[in-house]
Amino acid sequence: MDATTSLVDQPAILGGTAAITLSHDDACRWPIITSEDEEAVLRTLRTGSLGVSEETAALEADFREWTGRKYAVAHCNGTSAIFGAMHAFELEAGDEVIVPSATWWSSVMPILHFGGVPVFAELEGDCLGLDPEDIERKITDRTKAIVVVHLFGMPSKMDEIIELAERYDLKILEDASHAHGATYKGRMIGSMTEAAVFSMQGNKLLPSAEGGVFLTDDETMYEAVLRLGHYERLLDLTSMNKYLAATGLGYKFRMSPLSAALGRVQLRHLDERNAIRNANCIELGQHLESLGIQAFLAPEGVERTYFEYLVRYDEAATGLPIDDFTRAMQAEGAQLSAPRYPLLHQMPVFTHGIWKSITRLPDDGDLREYDENDLPGTTEGNGSLIKLPAFPNEDHGLIAQYKTAFSKVIAHADALPRADA
Ligand SMILES: Cc1ncc(COP(=O)(O)O)c(C=O)c1O
Repeated sequence: MDATTSLVDQPAILGGTAAITLSHDDACRWPIITSEDEEAVLRTLRTGSLGVSEETAALEADFREWTGRKYAVAHCNGTSAIFGAMHAFELEAGDEVIVPSATWWSSVMPILHFGGVPVFAELEGDCLGLDPEDIERKITDRTKAIVVVHLFGMPSKMDEIIELAERYDLKILEDASHAHGATYKGRMIGSMTEAAVFSMQGNKLLPSAEGGVFLTDDETMYEAVLRLGHYERLLDLTSMNKYLAATGLGYKFRMSPLSAALGRVQLRHLDERNAIRNANCIELGQHLESLGIQAFLAPEGVERTYFEYLVRYDEAATGLPIDDFTRAMQAEGAQLSAPRYPLLHQMPVFTHGIWKSITRLPDDGDLREYDENDLPGTTEGNGSLIKLPAFPNEDHGLIAQYKTAFSKVIAHADALPRADA
């Protein structure tokens, strides 16, 4: 073996040549904005209708057609749409809602504003969704609803969760903010339960200049959501809600027409862009699985998306602690990091009891206490996740370099430096 070969084979952290030398800029560029987006936004801008607009109505029609749902209401962001869903669920003081701990906090925090009590359940290990068995353990006579998050684009175990909801008469909100275009056993994510929400925040698979969409087939829920500042549409209703057109309920959650214009173009390109991202993540994922790294490839009957690309590293299999592994991969030029969501059940708003003052529930000593040591499975699972780029564009050889880097670091795991050695 000549000197060049041995340097290439050596991990970069031990003085070898880094495996990943190609730029990430093109492969990881997101969102993709073209002249089609620019023209759509300009066209809308020039109409001068920057509040109530046909463009927003057209986006809602696009969403109805895309998901097959009866009602779609465009919101200024996903957070307000989740708030709307909790209003539509008629949460009352003390009602419990079963939620995941590993998610963006707006899947959970709006519950508190209705006096609702989040009850955290464990994630299951295959799909990163709520564990149906733990959901059932957490159901009490106060449980009103479940918030399902299709985390990072992987559909949750919907058959089991829907069966539980039917058996215990619970509502389900699908927070589909990570999973635009994913399907579960032939059904679209966002179409399977009482209500669903898609965020269209700028990094999402379906981005806009901030936005979110609430979806339902239920007329009462639809009207409830309109009460939160979709004034002009209340006038057309025949129910008592029409009288709220004069005042609303003090909120104003509608979407900007400029966001709607951008979102409509992005929706037209969703499938083709998801296909590129999926092919890249699956190609790398298959290689990772062959090295003993769990890549959360979609199980049979499921088409997942890759809003973010998280994989599970098995310290026991390599003997190399996850932080040392990550450092060695970073030395190879890989863009790896820890998952960015802190676990909600460990946040001070819960562990220090601050949530009680938001719900204004009478503290008669019976209120739930949250403990950071709850959910050992979720905590352990989250600690073994590593975040990779999701490669949303043509990779031009970058994925091959990632494969080489992973193989090299795993092959040399025994010889790599340990921070605590
Ligand atoms: C799972 C999840 N739910 C809800 C939201 C909230 O959406 P928005 O940022 O559009 O308010 C986000 C993120 O942005 C999210 O990741």
